[in-house]
Amino acid sequence: MKFSTKAIHVGCAPDSATGAIMPPIYMTSTYVQESPGETKGYDYTRAGNPNFTMLEEVLASLENAEFATVFSSGLGALTGLISMLSQGDSVVAFDGVYGGTYRLFNSIFKRYGITFNSINPTSLETLEKALEKKPKWLFFETPTNPLLEIYDISTFVKIAKRHSVLTLVDNTFATPYFQNPLKHGADIVWHSTTKYIGGHSDIIGGAVMTNSDSMKKELDFARKAMGLNPSPFDAWLLTRSIKTLALRMEQHQKNAFDIVNFLKNHPKVKRVYYPGMESDRNHAIAKKQMSGFSGVFSVEFNLPLESTKKLISSFNLFALAESLGGVESLVSHPATMTHASIPPEERLRIGLTDGLVRFSVGIEDSEDLIADLSQALELVN
Ligand SMILES: Cc1ncc(COP(=O)(O)O)c(C=O)c1O
Repeated sequence: MKFSTKAIHVGCAPDSATGAIMPPIYMTSTYVQESPGETKGYDYTRAGNPNFTMLEEVLASLENAEFATVFSSGLGALTGLISMLSQGDSVVAFDGVYGGTYRLFNSIFKRYGITFNSINPTSLETLEKALEKKPKWLFFETPTNPLLEIYDISTFVKIAKRHSVLTLVDNTFATPYFQNPLKHGADIVWHSTTKYIGGHSDIIGGAVMTNSDSMKKELDFARKAMGLNPSPFDAWLLTRSIKTLALRMEQHQKNAFDIVNFLKNHPKVKRVYYPGMESDRNHAIAKKQMSGFSGVFSVEFNLPLESTKKLISSFNLFALAESLGGVESLVSHPATMTHASIPPEERLRIGLTDGLVRFSVGIEDSEDLIADLSQALELVN
């Protein structure tokens, strides 16, 4: 089956009791047992719920994975993953992980003796040295947020495997529609389903996909033991949202191209970061491992900081908000919003300047979005 057919049919058969074509929402905390310990597969919703199962089936199939486990949020999913590590373990990450990921490792799990080192892998020597210290994981996002750096998954997986290190990829920005890291050899993929997979800015969720049976068991256990479950309603909403994922991603991407083409030669624009552009530094690697480039891009404007702030507060259609991947267009200022939890010196080291603006293009008509950008650009100098 191809992507959209799977997105609509996997895990989602008509309800056998009533014929309802859409599944019911199992808003229940507990399940009646026939006799003590004899269940119909579920005993308590923190441990499992039919809406979680349906969502896991479709998510696993879209990532070409054997298994998925759904969580309360992207960071809930990461918490479940980190719970598989032990005191003294370390993780090597590539520059550009989401600020909340950085914060979870450095403000919480560091206290439990788990270390997280972020490196720039353009120096293979630095990478080899980091892997020689026997970390448990190599951990990265691709594309990264907000600089849209692309890391070559299969190259880094090969290096990690030589050191017996597992590779984990945050596939939130690309979505399973445009990229399947497991196909390139990654061991674990995780998502903030809050973003494109949810797609309507109305839920917070997360998921992990893997081909390892033992990891699936550990993740299900972590969800139950730490209370990292989503609500059945959110799981149901995600199951519904996934049915239109392919259509939405195509439109997000089309709009991103239209706007990037408008902005890239604009006199008030210094630089556009979008791996879909042939001139982008990452275009070749992106083309190799992705089937499309998504709807997020970043722009460095030729404007002083105060004018940049005025610009992003002057849009009528682009809402000034954190997050991405919804049907509506959003704009954000990483240094003061999504990445404020990263210390300023670390932000500068990874190239995240005060003038950088990130756009998450929605699925509106691109002519209207371009007109909105034009009117706001007219107002600033
Ligand atoms: C790339 C990426 N990964 C993970 C997360 C965390 O996900 P959540 O907000 O669902 O916990 C985010 C949130 O913005 C993100 O952008």
